[in-house]
Amino acid sequence: MSGYTAITKDAIIEDTEIEFDLYLRNGFSGSYRYVLFSRGDEQLSPERKEELANRNIQEFYISTDDTDKYLRYQEKNLDELINDEDKTTLEKSGAVYKVAENIVQDILDDPKSGQNMQRASEWVNSTVKHIIQDENAFSGLFEVASLDYNTYTHSVNTAVIGLLFGKYLSLTQHELDCLGIGLMLHDIGKLSIPPKVINKSGRVSGSELDTIKKHPKAGLDLLAHRNYIDGLSLKVVIQHHENHDGSGYPYGIGGSDIHMFGSISRIIDVYDAMTTNRSYAKAKRPFAVLVEMKETMSNCFNEELLREFVCFLGPKDSRSEIREEDELYSTAYAVN
Ligand SMILES: [Fe+2]
Ligand SMILES: [Fe+2]
Repeated sequence: MSGYTAITKDAIIEDTEIEFDLYLRNGFSGSYRYVLFSRGDEQLSPERKEELANRNIQEFYISTDDTDKYLRYQEKNLDELINDEDKTTLEKSGAVYKVAENIVQDILDDPKSGQNMQRASEWVNSTVKHIIQDENAFSGLFEVASLDYNTYTHSVNTAVIGLLFGKYLSLTQHELDCLGIGLMLHDIGKLSIPPKVINKSGRVSGSELDTIKKHPKAGLDLLAHRNYIDGLSLKVVIQHHENHDGSGYPYGIGGSDIHMFGSISRIIDVYDAMTTNRSYAKAKRPFAVLVEMKETMSNCFNEELLREFVCFLGPKDSRSEIREEDELYSTAYAVN
């Protein structure tokens, strides 16, 4: 066993299948003992939960080896967690985010699995419920969103921002579903690019850029002809680097030839990349990013949608408080 991780006791719902052992921690200042509280094949009864409350115990511990099982447990019970009035917005948002990260990791490990796509679809449904039910979900989700860029966190961040923005635009449930899944998968074609090119910290060469530019088409090839992926989601995958003036890739289409989902994903993709720490550029403040998108990159975006995005976001991205000073932005953003 490699160690223990604390989880809040409220993460465990009474009378549910748990499938991993729960421990309590005894002791003080550095000399701790972990005592088995319940085995994975036991359920937590209301009486035992009350006993914990009486002893003022707030946390369980799980073996770090069981982290994946714990995330799957949260995924299975996500709706219940979201509906639980005793949970805070931040707890709900944290679970929504972590569960999504785990799903994206599994999708990228096995992009052909229909079951993983089904999990993504269920996650979108739960997240939309969270957004609709909890007026603080917006700030909660931005608070838990990762500040560091990698394909997993970027995929989850863009899906979360896309669902919030889609809700703001009054998209239908079906459209939200397609947009969320499309954004979760939009960079899946990067699986076909050598990691040393993806993770390069310096400026990329011309041939490396050509390789990177193949990822929307590679993503489409991977996903097309799978009947569980809607055509609307595929618009996000293939068009998220197309620019409004036709200067984007892979097809160089522009204006009304770009689907609304392509235009939305272009905006969110750039926004998330620029507001997170990448290997070649530090995160910038949300406000500065919006100004830059509007003033120096306006050729990339559908003007009306960008205006809506600015109104939607306003000063509300809570990540702004923890951003470092703005730095000169590298033009290499286009590769994200
Ligand atoms: Fe991309
Ligand atoms: Fe992206």
